Amino acid sequence: MQYRPFGKLDFQVSALGFGAMRLPSKSADYTDIDEAQALEMIHYAIDHGVNYLDTAYGYHGGKSEILVGKALKGGYRQKVKVATKLPVWLVDTVQDMDRYLDEQLRKLDTEHIDFYLFHDLNKDRWAKLERLEALNWAEKAIQKGKIGHIGFSFHDDRETFKKIIDAYPWTFCQIQYNYLDIDHQAGQFGLQYAAQKGIAVVIMEPLRGGRLANPPEEVQKIFDEAPVKRSPVAWALLWLWNQKEVAVVLSGMSNLQQVKENIEIASSSGVGLLSPEELKIIERAREAFERLPSINCNACKYCLPCPNGVNISRNFELYNDAFQKIAFEDARRKYLALPEEERASSCLGCGDCEDLCPQELPIPELLEKVARAFEE
Ligand SMILES: NC(=O)c1ccc[n+]([C@@H]2O[C@H](COP(=O)([O-])OP(=O)(O)OC[C@H]3O[C@@H](n4cnc5c(N)ncnc54)[C@H](OP(=O)(O)O)[C@@H]3O)[C@@H](O)[C@H]2O)c1
Repeated sequence: MQYRPFGKLDFQVSALGFGAMRLPSKSADYTDIDEAQALEMIHYAIDHGVNYLDTAYGYHGGKSEILVGKALKGGYRQKVKVATKLPVWLVDTVQDMDRYLDEQLRKLDTEHIDFYLFHDLNKDRWAKLERLEALNWAEKAIQKGKIGHIGFSFHDDRETFKKIIDAYPWTFCQIQYNYLDIDHQAGQFGLQYAAQKGIAVVIMEPLRGGRLANPPEEVQKIFDEAPVKRSPVAWALLWLWNQKEVAVVLSGMSNLQQVKENIEIASSSGVGLLSPEELKIIERAREAFERLPSINCNACKYCLPCPNGVNISRNFELYNDAFQKIAFEDARRKYLALPEEERASSCLGCGDCEDLCPQELPIPELLEKVARAFEE
């Protein structure tokens, strides 16, 4: 494993961090975590040098923190820093913040959360936290020893990012960043802006939720023709680690094979290792992606459960497969094999999902588009 500086802290973080948002499940129900497999994956990662574990109150319908708590038994707690997040959208009062933090400590079965984030900040949520004087609250939680350091995860535009960064001497922040997102949300600007202030930048969605692992043919062709042979995952991750401003790259790995592969890639990573020719290959891959029709869903499942049972991210994934991979019939067959309530056409347009989407997708409108594409 390679280790990298974590902002101004006296802590060397592993290049790869474990994101506990896409753990394997025993059934199609993502709250039904396959505990044995998930524990094996987390223990394998820690045994091979991963020292940063990221979870959140809501992951896997609230079960991720409990699973992480179990993974920390048997001496693993001392080997890893734990990060979790306050569900800001559920908070209305200071008492709510106390209540969630105490519940999270219980679920994780730990005395202390090393890195505590305000989850999924945007302009409105930041305004709410300011009203609640949440930073004062967080500093008190640090004094009480419940939290080590305060940070935030972010999904909004770069102006909002700059405003939040400038408002407080944060230890760390977490942004969505990958070779498609250079100019999206905080983007490369945000990465560099935070890093030059000495704030550790934690990267989430490095493979755009998995889409960069299995790219469309046009993109795969660019990688196949490259003089250096690498998997699409290796191209995407090495591109991130090539940048000195990146502290740790979180990957939401969903099986042991992925954990092994990503650890191996991390071990060969480093700042400035990619040549100008290799960086050009990534640029061409980005351009090829941008030419294709796409629904910008990262399958984070923050929008679920849908009150009517629509499997939102699966519908968008099938749409992208149909049009990016030119596999329309195959995707349509899979769409029609979904239980009727999970299909896009079962959307009632209530819009409950829209407020929760970090990508700010107009979900009901897009579901209508998917339904039209597959059912008409
Ligand atoms: N704070 C926030 O607002 C927020 C939002 C999103 C994420 N996060 C955190 O950031 C972490 C990382 O983000 P992410 O989960 O979106 O990461 P990601 O790396 O972009 O996506 C993870 C997915 O990529 C695929 N993958 C990973 N390694 C692979 C490999 N070696 N070969 C093939 N496919 C591979 C898997 O997809 P398949 O399952 O399809 O194989 C996996 O589920 C999350 O787990 C979570 O902890 C936070």
